[in-house]
Amino acid sequence: MRQRIDCNFDWEFTPVWSKKFARGEDVPEARRVDLPHTCAETPYDYFDESCCQMLCGYRRRIAVPEDWRGKRVFLTVGAAGHAAEVYVNGEKLAGHRCGYTAFRTELTAALTPGKEAVLAVCVDSRETLDQPPFGLVVDYMTYGGLYREVRLDVCEDSLIEDVFACPALPESLPLLGSSEREEVRRALAVDLRVPGRLSGAVTLTGPAAGCALRFRLRDGGGMLLTELTVPVGGQNQRFDFSVPEVRLWDVDSPRLYTLETALLRGPTELDCVETRIGFRRAEWKSDGFYLNGRKLKLLGLNRHQSFPYVGYAMPRSMQRLDAEILKHELGCNAVRTSHYPQSQHFVDRCDELGLLVFTEIPGWQHIGGDAWKQQALRNTEEMVRQYRNHPCVILWGVRINESADDDALYRATNAAARALDPTRATGGVRCIKKSHLLEDVYTYNDFLHDGLSPGCEKKKAVTPDMGKAYLVSEYAGHMFPTKPYDDEPHRTEHALRHAAVLDAVAAQDDIAGSFGWCMFDYNTHKDFGSGDRICYHGVLDMFRNPKTAAAVYAAQQDALPVLCVSSAMDLGERPASVRGRVFVMTNADEVRLYKNDRFIRSYTHADSPYAHMSNPPIEIDDFIGGQIEAEEHFTPQQAKLVKELLNYFARFGYAHLPPQIMAKTGLLMTRYGMKFEDAYALYGKYVGDWGDRATEFRFDAVKDGAVVQSVRRGAVTSLRLELRPSHTVLRHGATYDVALLRIAVTDQNGNVVPYWQGSVDVSVEGPLSVIGPAQPTLRGGLGGLYLKTTGAEGSAAVTLKTAQTEPVTIKFIIKKE
Ligand code: GAL
Repeated sequence: MRQRIDCNFDWEFTPVWSKKFARGEDVPEARRVDLPHTCAETPYDYFDESCCQMLCGYRRRIAVPEDWRGKRVFLTVGAAGHAAEVYVNGEKLAGHRCGYTAFRTELTAALTPGKEAVLAVCVDSRETLDQPPFGLVVDYMTYGGLYREVRLDVCEDSLIEDVFACPALPESLPLLGSSEREEVRRALAVDLRVPGRLSGAVTLTGPAAGCALRFRLRDGGGMLLTELTVPVGGQNQRFDFSVPEVRLWDVDSPRLYTLETALLRGPTELDCVETRIGFRRAEWKSDGFYLNGRKLKLLGLNRHQSFPYVGYAMPRSMQRLDAEILKHELGCNAVRTSHYPQSQHFVDRCDELGLLVFTEIPGWQHIGGDAWKQQALRNTEEMVRQYRNHPCVILWGVRINESADDDALYRATNAAARALDPTRATGGVRCIKKSHLLEDVYTYNDFLHDGLSPGCEKKKAVTPDMGKAYLVSEYAGHMFPTKPYDDEPHRTEHALRHAAVLDAVAAQDDIAGSFGWCMFDYNTHKDFGSGDRICYHGVLDMFRNPKTAAAVYAAQQDALPVLCVSSAMDLGERPASVRGRVFVMTNADEVRLYKNDRFIRSYTHADSPYAHMSNPPIEIDDFIGGQIEAEEHFTPQQAKLVKELLNYFARFGYAHLPPQIMAKTGLLMTRYGMKFEDAYALYGKYVGDWGDRATEFRFDAVKDGAVVQSVRRGAVTSLRLELRPSHTVLRHGATYDVALLRIAVTDQNGNVVPYWQGSVDVSVEGPLSVIGPAQPTLRGGLGGLYLKTTGAEGSAAVTLKTAQTEPVTIKFIIKKE
């Protein structure tokens, strides 16, 4: 039987590779590390990419017990950024290129049972490598190291090398062609049971004559549904059987099944491999994307795989958290893993959550020479082989992101993807219109929207083939970098730009969907970003804290109530003390606005300037309500006119009045004899809100008749720390665990105070260590702390405080598995 041995603890790392190190001799630079590991920890910002460039080494002693005699031993490296060579006792066994795919090396011949061996991996993280994404410039830091997990598999002489399972559904699903309403169709997808079919291929290694393969299909609860045993007919064994009843994998009900494939020699089980699968139909048609026969507009964001300080090197919990944030906090139904294949932990979680994935080969604009292209082709093959069993993957990106046409290369990558996975469509991201469409889907980075231009291009303006599907793979991003501590008009504009694109895409039936640039801010090379090595393109900051724009997405889901007001309502923050446009992002049915507990007005999504997207931002344009009518001795018409004009002045100021407003102002003066002083006094009373009593605006979100959330905006009187742990039970198992503590400084009403910059004192009691600086800095009232298990179990208490806030303690439990 196969024995799987996680191999992530007790490595030694040297930033300077040498043969001596590979042989196991002492070298001065070596230090103990655990995997995932980054070859260079970085500051948060202002660091040079050269710090990550090195030829470094990892080594670990492995005890080779006597009972490994006659067995085959394989090393699987989750990722080595960016080229690696594997050594045992100083002898080189194999090499691998591509910093974003896994690779396996057989160690058997180099191991002697009963003797310890020195396993070493030389890792080259230099950008001079002749392989994707290198060769020109790259808008993301590429980091380096053994940044994913590593495993040993001790196998029999014959083993299962690979299982590719293709779950299929009947030709016609009851959902197909249904004219039911969306909710009904969703409900149908959740409950539907249909006959399924499972076909595919198993690749075997080693002598397999006389062996048999046994397939067992289990549901999510582990119940056996179908079993089939077939004699092995060759190294590549196809299988095909039907399953009486399966439930669909869908975005709202991602049912998963496990295919257990066992290799048997007589009664002996030589090997067994579990493959998690889902039964779903993903189709790309000229008018969009269909999941299980239902048209589904893709609503996604692009995700890099980076984290502050440790680059790509984060374990399972942090990878999974990003998928959870996308689905639950950002209301997305899809993600693009820009610009490379990402952690299996992340993609596994997407499977579990029903989050659709568009994954792609590594690269950024540049195409190199022949060797480089050959590598791009190998990367395509590795990507498809390694991710093709995930039901969440719906599209292979087989072009270098934003590269020029290269028909020979892209014919080859398309052919490779289709040969290795005939069930999925290909795409490939470009920034050029009407380029050669060798793929099934035209995927285009549409940066048309600049605040004034339309939200997106029309499909026909971009694709050369209207008969194929069309997808917007990026928008926003560099068009409007935004920091959480930018001024309020800037942060609001950022949110509105995302809304403008989502609305334009929603308006066009023949666009399959869109992926915004991007999920969170990321460190980048000198040629990009804000000069501090950060691209502030995220709807979240680097610690995954939301900016205002995040609420545009959050309002698209309905599991959690969302109510975000774009403005703190502090007039002095705005140019010329003019309130500007105020928006509310919500998934509630109605928002009621109160000023000092007096009802002003109720709003619904019908009051939004965006007509097509679901739950669009609502514009708040009345801050006065019935106050003037009730308190001033005006006729109803006069009160109405005064209110309209005051609201206008409040939002847009007195300068450059449009003719219509000028005329109405004139009317007030002539017909009602109002003077400038009267207007000034009314403005002070109903708009400026100057005086003894601080004004408080309250926004109540109402769902099904009940208030589900309130936002209060008034003068800040006190500050507090708000800590959001990703999880409080940490598991030190296959490797260390990391929890993220998202930190915010808020006012007394729970609103983040966006101009609070300062440091946080951290004290940790118990077996957790802090990644990054011991005293983190908050920017824009936001920050984060990564806490890592140390190997010991028990409980820990982490206390944070700032000069202006009371200490807050979060308790953790650390378990060893
Ligand atoms: C795109 C590119 C992304 C990122 C983005 C910024 O052109 O594909 O990687 O650089 O621009 O908006």
